[in-house]
Amino acid sequence: MPEFTASPSVPPTNQKNRVLGALAAGFVLLVALVAIRNGLSSESLQTAPRIDPSMVPLVTGDEPIQELFVRAGCPVCHHIPGIAGANGQVGPALNLGKTGAMRLADPHYRGQARTVRDYIVESVMSPGVYVVPGFPPDTMPVWYGRKLSAAALDKIVTYLEEAR
Ligand code: HEC
Repeated sequence: MPEFTASPSVPPTNQKNRVLGALAAGFVLLVALVAIRNGLSSESLQTAPRIDPSMVPLVTGDEPIQELFVRAGCPVCHHIPGIAGANGQVGPALNLGKTGAMRLADPHYRGQARTVRDYIVESVMSPGVYVVPGFPPDTMPVWYGRKLSAAALDKIVTYLEEAR
């Protein structure tokens, strides 16, 4: 009965399996440790409020300007002149009627905009292009292109380029 006589010769493969098992367990542990470390460090670095795209509804542009800014979540991080409750301190005050020209004149500015209007569009749609000195990078959400209709963006820009 070959099936039965074969069984005593199992130990070598058994040992191999044990080694493989130990390696696999070690790997799982390593992955878990890295995940925990990353989780902890990203939590402790999280000084700025994060807003998740799921918290922001589509903004159509039909909303009055006050409601439009509030829906989009900008007041969480920005002071916006003339918008009630927009007292966020995470990003710069959005008085681009005053500061816009300074941004374009900054020798570190690497964006494509030549006008304050285009600068505001760029800041909202591609925030990584230029980070305003003294403010945290990777904080302004990068997904507003998916949440603001063209009309909403236009309304925001028209408001902000005059804001002082
Ligand atoms: C989670 C915080 C946060 C939210 C929400 C947010 N921003 Fe920002 N924003 C920042 C930060 C931080 C900066 C500065 C760093 C940078 O340039 O990326 C910034 C920069 C800007 C700038 C450039 C300002 C300047 O002075 O040059 C504009 C314009 C702007 N945001 C518009 C908006 C608009 C409009 C909204 C809503 C549709 C919005 N932001 C929502 C954090 C935020």
